[in-house]
Amino acid sequence: MKTIENISRMSTFVKMMKKEGKSIGLVPTMGYLHEGHLSLVKAAKKHTDVVVMSIFINPLQFAPHEDLEKYPRDLKHDEEMARTAGVDVVFYPSLKDMYPEGYATYVTVEKLTDNLCGESRTGHFRGVTTVVIKLFNIVKPDVAYFGQKDMQQALTVKKMASDLNMGIEVKMMPVVREKDGLAMSSRNMYLNDAERKDAAVLHQSLKNAETLIKNGERDAGKVMKAVEEMIRSKQSARIEYVKLVDARELKDVKMITGEIALSVAVFFGKTRLIDNTTITVR
Ligand code: PAF
Repeated sequence: MKTIENISRMSTFVKMMKKEGKSIGLVPTMGYLHEGHLSLVKAAKKHTDVVVMSIFINPLQFAPHEDLEKYPRDLKHDEEMARTAGVDVVFYPSLKDMYPEGYATYVTVEKLTDNLCGESRTGHFRGVTTVVIKLFNIVKPDVAYFGQKDMQQALTVKKMASDLNMGIEVKMMPVVREKDGLAMSSRNMYLNDAERKDAAVLHQSLKNAETLIKNGERDAGKVMKAVEEMIRSKQSARIEYVKLVDARELKDVKMITGEIALSVAVFFGKTRLIDNTTITVR
């Protein structure tokens, strides 16, 4: 496995691979890898010849009060995990290389980023799409892989790639969960024991909502209320949002029909976690 820390060296490597007719799969990450990231690598290995994993903690997507400073970092461990998973190149650009002094170009996807996390995390998706388009331009992947835990992010990147005719396939892969159902996230490490136990309620409440809908409930308000009640029963939980939206445009729905997504953002103590499930009702 190669580690490349420099954009121009990455571009040279990409040119070489393209010349050899190799397809490139990109797994963009902010490091502190877990099984969720590795599932993306596994998918990339299946569909593409060369798997590049980027590790870059992107300051643009953090608001000033968020966790940029304390975001977990462990490059040695990440490299070990990436190597074992069969990553070909870890791309680890520096902040100065990505955003040199005078940097002034940003990419925004409208509408899809208005609701859900876009409502409270002002500027977050602008930061994500800006760094992702830079990674796309540097690595020139044929396919890029994102996890469904960050569904709004994956859909937003997909929309950007399509609107800007980038010729890159953006794949959204299923959420990978711990034994008790908690979605894997680098931020889970912030939780203390009590918060970690409480956090399992996210998946439980989504499953309970799925059952309600399967049993015929079509009133979005009632389903959201049931989810909120379950989450509120946990002492350390503070709900930011529980929303039922249509799964394509992420607009709120009142009645449950077609393809919908139930999406939640909840603080456990100081740690904000998100999760979601998509449901199709015919
Ligand atoms: O999901 C993440 O880890 C980040 O938002 C991403 C896609 C790597 C962009 O910084």
